[in-house]
Amino acid sequence: MNTHVTQDTPEASPGTVGFAMQGDIAVLTIDNPPVNAGSHAVRRGITDGIAAACEAGAAGAVLMGAGRCFVAGSDLREFGKPLAWPELPDVIAAIEDAPFPVVAALHGVALGGGLELSLGCDYRIAAPDARLGLPEVSLGFIPGAGGTQRMPRLTGRASAIDLICRAARIPATEALTLGLVDGLAEGDLLAAALAFLREGPRPKRLARTLPPPPEDEAAIDAAARTALKRGKGRPNIAEAIRLVRASDGDAGTMLADERAVFQRLRLSDDAFALRYLFFAERTAGSVDGLDMTAALRVSAAGVIGGGTMGQGIVRALLAAGLSVVLIERDEAALATALSGIDASLGAQVARGRLSASGAEQRRAALSGAVDYGALSGCDLVIEAVFEEMSVKQDVLARLEAALPAEAIIATNTSYLDIDEMVQGLSHPERVLGLHFFSPADVMKLLEVVRAARTSDAVLASGLKLAGRLGKQPVVARVGEGFVGNRIYAAYRRRAELLVLDGAAPEEVDAAATGFGFAMGPFAVSDMSGLDIAWAMRKRQAASRDPQARYVTIPDRLCEAGRLGRKTGKGWYAYGSGSGAAEPDPEVAALIDAARAEAGVSPQSFDAGTIQRQLLAAIVNEAACLLDEGIAQRASDVDVALANGYGFPRWRGGPLYWAATEGRAELEADLKALAAAVGHGFRAGPVAEVLAGLDTGREG
Ligand code: NAI
Repeated sequence: MNTHVTQDTPEASPGTVGFAMQGDIAVLTIDNPPVNAGSHAVRRGITDGIAAACEAGAAGAVLMGAGRCFVAGSDLREFGKPLAWPELPDVIAAIEDAPFPVVAALHGVALGGGLELSLGCDYRIAAPDARLGLPEVSLGFIPGAGGTQRMPRLTGRASAIDLICRAARIPATEALTLGLVDGLAEGDLLAAALAFLREGPRPKRLARTLPPPPEDEAAIDAAARTALKRGKGRPNIAEAIRLVRASDGDAGTMLADERAVFQRLRLSDDAFALRYLFFAERTAGSVDGLDMTAALRVSAAGVIGGGTMGQGIVRALLAAGLSVVLIERDEAALATALSGIDASLGAQVARGRLSASGAEQRRAALSGAVDYGALSGCDLVIEAVFEEMSVKQDVLARLEAALPAEAIIATNTSYLDIDEMVQGLSHPERVLGLHFFSPADVMKLLEVVRAARTSDAVLASGLKLAGRLGKQPVVARVGEGFVGNRIYAAYRRRAELLVLDGAAPEEVDAAATGFGFAMGPFAVSDMSGLDIAWAMRKRQAASRDPQARYVTIPDRLCEAGRLGRKTGKGWYAYGSGSGAAEPDPEVAALIDAARAEAGVSPQSFDAGTIQRQLLAAIVNEAACLLDEGIAQRASDVDVALANGYGFPRWRGGPLYWAATEGRAELEADLKALAAAVGHGFRAGPVAEVLAGLDTGREG
């Protein structure tokens, strides 16, 4: 039985940290819902609790979290400003100075400052389901309360470099193997922590005074190299590595060094951008005024079409523990799709990403059929058939006939008008768009499309499903390409115009990756194939404005059989050996011909100009779609680009970037954009959109 008698000391902050004596052991319970974020009040409450335990003559103390976790991290809202006393190192100093051993009892998550707090305790006991990690680098800074110093004294430096630089969250079992925790609690966590102390003797044991474990320098070098490469050489990664490497030095000096770096980096441009994105991502999945409790339960799902997307969607649904029925056109297509899924599950097992029994469970939860009757038990069906209005309308009509009245129907369409798609249905309110990105089980972004008739309950269900699938939802209204693809199209169009006007494709790609994009636009086109956009251009040819500038180069590439990587050549040639992209003289000739045909005299563009023009195109298009109400908020656009289009996270997103740039320069960029696009250019309300964006940076 846990008897929590909360008695606030005069100095304590009521409600944030409970204090109770269990015999001669003090129990401090952090209670700051929903995730016990380490706020100023919590830090104050812990130091007060330790002082109260000293006063009570306690023989030991247990530090734990109320509710669903220990501590999910420090309160990030405090991180853009000066931190108030006591800071986390002061709290840890109080714990270290206490004359009795302190055990941290971890459940749920112990992350960031939460894990550092526990590393400042003498011992750690964890519930088997607990997850531990130091995710600070993913927010642009480093652990600043001893994480880079205490962790390596327990795990060794190579492991600490890996865990810290990967921002890994590891399960308690792994933490036990690594020496990060001292025991796992079976049953009641508090009882286990009390028993651990009472079974003693438990002398004081400060992690910072432990001798560094003996280690192979080569392993440390290897971990550092991998971490730096994965971390794209960002300054905070380099600092974290340096500090962990030197953690065998004098603890006092090193802790001060770490703190100074932390204080500097938490106010760095990267940290402001990543904090902004952190909050933007949490907001993107919400719709003002939407009653999320109206969401319908989804446990059995159906997928129509087992091509590239369908197979990925099936894998994503299975990974989230849903049962899935896959429907294909005929038995042969079904067999191909099922064996494709089977093979990818096998590959995941081979790579150690999934256990053999896990794969078996997923296979057992999947069935296939060609008859819609098999869908009768499904709560939700996602169609991923060919991108053809008539095909999709036919599928939706058949679904409406086969499914129970309350079942949800989702379309994975990339571009089609969902309002038109549902026209023949009796219950269009049950249809929404769930636009996945390829590969659907890997990519984080999920556009949840609210069609004109979509009901609130169906929208809420889609958002809830996104959470279950571990996706980052962004809500969009119906409009060509929704949010992400629409903006990407404007970006790609600007890239193509730059080539027509004189830049080489490899110059444009190098400028994009130089800015931090994962890949350049032409490398992306080659990877995904040029034929889909070609087909779309042919469909739209009749309605194209003849006065608008049109870049014929991609059409010429397709006509020459250069459809991208899958045909061995596209914007680039791909060497048969390494498969690396090589500029191709044939493409250069084709580009020259297109310039001559369009009467363009080529100019040269430097990398900075290319970057700013690509960004201006993104920013302007984002402003247009916000103006049209396709996206809900400016920050949602940033979330979409960072999660689905390889936009560098440390830059916050295109609108954040624009909002923190000089206004005059941006205006000049937009002018240049308007001139380059020429006839038909539509200027979005950029200034207005940026004025409404809260970057979290004051002054
Ligand atoms: P795909 O051509 O690889 O797959 C389509 C599958 O649907 C094929 O296996 C086909 O046999 C099946 N199919 C066609 N008509 C059917 C019917 N009436 N009943 C049952 N099955 C049928 O196409 P992909 O790339 O998977 O795209 C599917 C949908 O997802 C399209 O709407 C596309 O725009 C969208 N999408 C595609 C993305 C991509 O990167 N490929 C990204 C996001 C959305």
